[in-house]
Amino acid sequence: MPRKLFVTTALPYANAPFHVGHMMEYIQADIWVRFQRMQGHEVHFVCADDAHGAPIMIAAEKAGKTPQQFVTEIAGGRRQYLDGFHIGFDNWHSTDGPENHQLAQDIYRALRRQGLIAERTIEQFFDPVKGMFLPDRYIKGECPRCGAKDQYGDSCEVCGAVYTPTELKNPYSTLTGATPVMKASEHYFFQLSAQRCIDFLQEWTGQPGRLQTEVLNKIKEWFAVDEHGHGALSDWDISRDAPYFGIEIPDAPGKYFYVWLDAPIGYLAALKNYCDKSGRDYDALMADPALEQIHFIGKDITYFHTLFWPAMLKFSGRKVPDRVFVHGFITVSGEKMSKSRGTGISPLRYLELGMNAEWLRYYIAAKLNSKVEDIDFNPDDFIARVNSDLVGKYINIASRAAGFIAKRFGGALSGDVGVEGLSVLDALRAGCSDIERLYEEREFGKALREIMLLADRVNEYVDQHKPWELAKQAGQDAVLHRKSRLSCASRRCASPTRSARSASTRSASTST
Ligand code: 2FM
Ligand code: ZN
Repeated sequence: MPRKLFVTTALPYANAPFHVGHMMEYIQADIWVRFQRMQGHEVHFVCADDAHGAPIMIAAEKAGKTPQQFVTEIAGGRRQYLDGFHIGFDNWHSTDGPENHQLAQDIYRALRRQGLIAERTIEQFFDPVKGMFLPDRYIKGECPRCGAKDQYGDSCEVCGAVYTPTELKNPYSTLTGATPVMKASEHYFFQLSAQRCIDFLQEWTGQPGRLQTEVLNKIKEWFAVDEHGHGALSDWDISRDAPYFGIEIPDAPGKYFYVWLDAPIGYLAALKNYCDKSGRDYDALMADPALEQIHFIGKDITYFHTLFWPAMLKFSGRKVPDRVFVHGFITVSGEKMSKSRGTGISPLRYLELGMNAEWLRYYIAAKLNSKVEDIDFNPDDFIARVNSDLVGKYINIASRAAGFIAKRFGGALSGDVGVEGLSVLDALRAGCSDIERLYEEREFGKALREIMLLADRVNEYVDQHKPWELAKQAGQDAVLHRKSRLSCASRRCASPTRSARSASTRSASTST
């Protein structure tokens, strides 16, 4: 039975170009989606810019632009990366699109009707010069423990102390330098601590196969009851006061949804926008019980996707996610990427240098598994893997016979593969189901190891039968044609790691 899949990757903040971490996630999801499509399944694969929030509003102001102009410009730069790395999204949208405004407000109203929205007055730091409440990251001051200057509002980089912004000595706003004042305002909370939410989340997270073991272990910690008998799930503050770049909360002038409320709703908005543009019925698609909703995300945003998001969907009467696939980060030569230390790799620079996107896709795939593990990009290892596997084994198969097939047989394959060829072909076919299972489970590294073993098998066949010698012998045309056929037949078992465009036979080298 063909499956119906709605697949997303995390929506990137619309304040910077993509880095290699984004590309890793898109490549992982694209390989999985490509595999599903090759199996004949129907896949709707979408993403969008995560447009809202205070940091984007402030960055836009610094750039002398409106937030809308700012995010539109960032969005304009996305295509070159996505096309460049052959990522096959069906749609790229924005959380500032009209669909998201509508959906976010509808979901909020439904949660309110369910009695799951509470109003409470809270006190927060306010910048009197800027006239806005300050997110923690815009407050600095002296560490309450060691007195170190210019420390952020949550922890001290010098002595490691952890505290709240109100504990800082001589706090100041990093936006204006002003001393922040405490100010009260009304906030809206999603009552995640309600027993029905906890019961639902226990049930949702506990469904076999829904989440990876490491993710489940983390969630168990979040559910744990502390020594005072308090559950760890607290109510979630979903509102922010103007000025804020976001979606207005209905019937609450001057209040906006916190960006993390409307961001995942952007998954639905991107799908709706795609459906509207392509003549599909969004409501019917979402109402189809066969539809599987699957999110690829990084480990740092697990909390939002395994607690807030399913609960928001459930209690607004919507379909809940079926799977959340969490991956680790990508390091470069064992180090966390850092712009200031210049340790990242720019995906665009990679393409500008003329490097083949297939090489990076292959290398990332070879490193990926189904666990929440970090993977490392190591330049020497990258060159070695691409040259030995992709060029030396996989591409080698075709390059050894393609010339004969093109020049001597007009590009047509022989109908016959011969007895020995058939036995190799049978071995390739026998390997398919294991490889399919590995792709399904996102064990791409293992799948590629299996594929390379099969490539070795075909290369051995070519070594034994030496088509280049047959080519020199008179009267051996039919044999040559037969023996060359396997090279193409085996490549038809093409892996989804490789996109439709051809991988170059040119090797990766340090000079590029
Ligand atoms: O962490 C981030 O980059 C967020 N912009 C991810 C949002 S994912 C989804 F919820 F939209
Ligand atoms: Zn300190």
